Amino acid sequence: MSVHKAIRKVTTHVLSEMKLRGEKISMLTAYDYSMAKLVDQAGIDVILVGDSASNVMAGNQTTLPITLDQMIYHGKSVTKGVSRALVVVDMPFGTYQGNSLEAIQSAIRIMKETHADAVKMEGGKEVIESVSRILSAGIPVMGHLGLMPQSIHKYGTYVVRAKEEEEAKKLISDAKLLEEAGCFAIVLEKIPATLGEKVANELKIPIIGIGAGGDVDGQVLVLHDMLGLNQEFSPRFLRRYHNLAAEITGAVGTYINNVKSGDFPNEKEQY
Ligand code: KIV
Repeated sequence: MSVHKAIRKVTTHVLSEMKLRGEKISMLTAYDYSMAKLVDQAGIDVILVGDSASNVMAGNQTTLPITLDQMIYHGKSVTKGVSRALVVVDMPFGTYQGNSLEAIQSAIRIMKETHADAVKMEGGKEVIESVSRILSAGIPVMGHLGLMPQSIHKYGTYVVRAKEEEEAKKLISDAKLLEEAGCFAIVLEKIPATLGEKVANELKIPIIGIGAGGDVDGQVLVLHDMLGLNQEFSPRFLRRYHNLAAEITGAVGTYINNVKSGDFPNEKEQY
């Protein structure tokens, strides 16, 4: 059994120890009880109830439509299946930007109703008042910089962020601001690997990358993408570990044939 599997419950403190001893942090998304249970049993360190649920579970084009009630529904389902991993719930678009009172109320609802361990928020300087207010209530916050899908209408495209010096400088200063405020970790999405490495080296808190290169402190992927359930999305950073879409359509096809031919149910499959 590896060292990380021997630890009972992963806490934010465990994650900072992992960074200190150079052990990489594994993180995946999950949105429902059954998948969360399997991912937890496999030994993942962090489960993110991502607002990517808006895309992969609800079929929306962006993460913007998902509501606080819907995120709470997914969060509740996930925590019921998890005993070891740290569970982080994304704060959805419109529940924390620009109004720190609404932010703290949203975060408190997430913590009370889902029993998650932490929340995640996109943005740096622009949302620092909300981040600080949530932290002051004792709620652990994970930051998210680089490509921030909740700002897709500002960017207009999902291309790599912070390739230019000005945006890279802002990202570094935002990361430092989030660390100073008390965030326990930061996700960096779709940025140059050299920038990911620089941020991971300059900050004490763990930096978890998705398309941010191999020299950060951990990696996160969307579960449906890495299992090959979602065929439409294939960015360069994505490694597919399975082709579940083919497995599922194959199994469903066999079931249909068995029903049509009268092969299912057989003698043993009835009362
Ligand atoms: O919502 C999500 O799945 C995320 C990951 C891409 C980090 O924020």
